[in-house]
Amino acid sequence: MAEPTIQQLFDLSGKTALVTGATGWLGAALSRALAEAGANVVVSSRKQEKAQAFARELPVRNAARHYGIEMDYLDPASIERGVADAIRQAGRIDILVNNGYELSPGDLTNITPEAFNKQLSNATGCFLLARHIHDHAVQRGGGASIIMLGSMYALVGSYPDAYAGICQASSVAYHTLKGGIVQMTRHLAVYWAKDGVRVNTLTPGPFPAPTAPRAMVERLCTKSPMGRMGRPDELKGAVVFLASDASGYMTGQNVVIDGGWTAW
Ligand SMILES: NC(=O)c1ccc[n+]([C@@H]2O[C@H](COP(=O)([O-])OP(=O)(O)OC[C@H]3O[C@@H](n4cnc5c(N)ncnc54)[C@H](OP(=O)(O)O)[C@@H]3O)[C@@H](O)[C@H]2O)c1
Repeated sequence: MAEPTIQQLFDLSGKTALVTGATGWLGAALSRALAEAGANVVVSSRKQEKAQAFARELPVRNAARHYGIEMDYLDPASIERGVADAIRQAGRIDILVNNGYELSPGDLTNITPEAFNKQLSNATGCFLLARHIHDHAVQRGGGASIIMLGSMYALVGSYPDAYAGICQASSVAYHTLKGGIVQMTRHLAVYWAKDGVRVNTLTPGPFPAPTAPRAMVERLCTKSPMGRMGRPDELKGAVVFLASDASGYMTGQNVVIDGGWTAW
C-alpha cells in the first residue's frame, strides 16, 4: 500500500460529520473546522431552524453539503429521531462530535438532587447517540470516529479562589459528568475497536465565552501556565486530527488542549 500523504490523512472529503451543540461557542468552531477539511456537516441543535440556519453559514469545500437536524440529549426519543433524520438527509454518518451539553444550575452548596441527575443525564444522551452511530457504522460497514468533549474539570479539581466572591463555584455535577465521559470513552473504545469504530475524547481547558464574568476570567488567566484563555480556533486542528485517518491508530485516548492548565 502506498504511504498516504499528510494532505490525504487530514482530508475529510466525502465524509459526513454529525456535531451536537454545533451552534455553541466551541461547537461552531469545531463544525467550521470539519467543513474546512472537506466534510459534509450535519448540524444538531435542540431547534431545527437554528441548526438549518447555521448549516447554511458553514464553508463548503468541493461538493460538500451541510444539513440541520433537531436533537435533545435529555430525550432518548429525540436522539433516535435526530439520528434517523441525519441519515435520511445525509445518507451516512462517519464522524460524531458529542459536543453539546445542558448545564444544570447550582454548585456543591446548593444543587438539588433533580438538577444533579439532570446534569448526569447528558452522559446518557452522549452514550445513546454514540451507540446509534456505532450500530449505523457496523450496518453500513466502513467504520466511524466518535469524539467526546471532555473538560479539564474531568481531570483536576477547580481552584476555589478563582470563583469566590464573583460567581458560584464550577459545578460539582459538571465535574462528575465530564469525568464519566472520559471513562466512557475508554470503555466504548475497547468494545468497538474491532468494529472499526474509534472513540476518543477531546478535552478543552479554559475557553470561556465572551459572556463569562470578566473578573473570573482574569483570575483564571493567572492559573494558566500560558497566562491566557484558549480561543475556539485552537481546537480546530485537534478535532480534524481525531476525525480523520491522521489518527487512524488511536482509540480510547484523551487529547488535552489546555494551555498547560493540567501540567502543573
Ligand atoms: N467553553 C469552555 O471553556 C469549555 C471547557 C471545557 C469543556 N468544554 C466542553 O465543550 C463543549 C461545548 O461547550 P461550549 O462552551 O461551547 O458550550 P455552549 O456554548 O453552551 O454550547 C453548548 C451547546 O449545547 C447545546 N445543548 C444544550 N442543551 C442540550 C441538550 N439537552 N441536548 C443537546 N444539545 C444541547 C446547545 O445548543 P442548542 O441550544 O442549539 O441546542 C449549546 O449551544 C461542552 O461539552 C463543554 O463541556 C467547554
